[in-house]
Amino acid sequence: MNSEIMNTGLCLSGTGVTKVFGFGDKKTVAVNNVDFKFHMGELISIVGESGSGKTTLVKMLLGLTSVTGGDIYFMGKKRDISSHHKKKEYWRGIQAIFQDPFSSFNIFNKIDTVLLDCINMRGGRRLSRQKKRELMSEACGFVNLKFEEMTNKYPFELSGGQMQRLMIARIFLLKPKILLADEPTSMIDACSRSTILDMLLKLRDETGMMIIFITHDIGLAYYISDSVYIMEHGKFVEHGTADEVILNPKADYTKRLINDVPKINEPWEFRKQLRKAVN
Ligand SMILES: Nc1ncnc2c1ncn2[C@@H]1O[C@H](COP(=O)(O)OP(=O)(O)O)[C@@H](O)[C@H]1O
Ligand SMILES: [Mg+2]
Repeated sequence: MNSEIMNTGLCLSGTGVTKVFGFGDKKTVAVNNVDFKFHMGELISIVGESGSGKTTLVKMLLGLTSVTGGDIYFMGKKRDISSHHKKKEYWRGIQAIFQDPFSSFNIFNKIDTVLLDCINMRGGRRLSRQKKRELMSEACGFVNLKFEEMTNKYPFELSGGQMQRLMIARIFLLKPKILLADEPTSMIDACSRSTILDMLLKLRDETGMMIIFITHDIGLAYYISDSVYIMEHGKFVEHGTADEVILNPKADYTKRLINDVPKINEPWEFRKQLRKAVN
């Protein structure tokens, strides 16, 4: 998929990354000694059933949860998020959208404020009001929202699909190198779902952003990704290109996930129909 924008640069990698919650009898090894190498511009899916450790890994990658073992490297260097300042700097490069967009916003902030904060975070504090409006309007346009209709609204006045689009508008303004998308379509209706997926693909195509897409849906993973990592009980049991893993699975767990999908080609058909409907 769009191999021209991919280059060989490693932007996020990890060795032996582990997260253990609790102690003794109550111990849960949520992420168990995983290794990974993610490259610039790639779209990676991490696929696993509920409870397999996906969100815990996302939170470690973001620096929201401490790492119990192993090392994470960002842009070729060992990640250092030991101070608040360093963490903020790190978050310029790596951002996330979550399953429940409503949980990601401060409900007392109007949408303009949400977008303005992004412009400020990217060093645009001193821009003119006019320029800031232009940027906000462009970001809303990118996700097919009308900025004029968004001003003075609160996030809770939007639908789930609109909220998730607003999350993508934030990412469009923040322009991180890496976007972690943790099941971003699992709480919204099917129609909004395909819109969100198309927007993520567009974001990747236009900005070269590396996207890590987290899902329990292997069909969806096949539809959007270059590479796939399969996660079972906190471990990566298999990884490779989407074609390698899904058309020629090695691990029993992957085979089972594939067998659970009624028709693996359905998303492609769906996409073709969607294209027809749009054109
Ligand atoms: N804060 C926490 N404290 C204790 N256990 C947790 C915590 N967060 C997640 N877990 C456990 O870690 C495992 C992986 O959870 P999670 O990363 O949310 O999986 P997934 O996102 O794949 O559904 C589960 O067994 C879950 O109960
Ligand atoms: Mg999860």
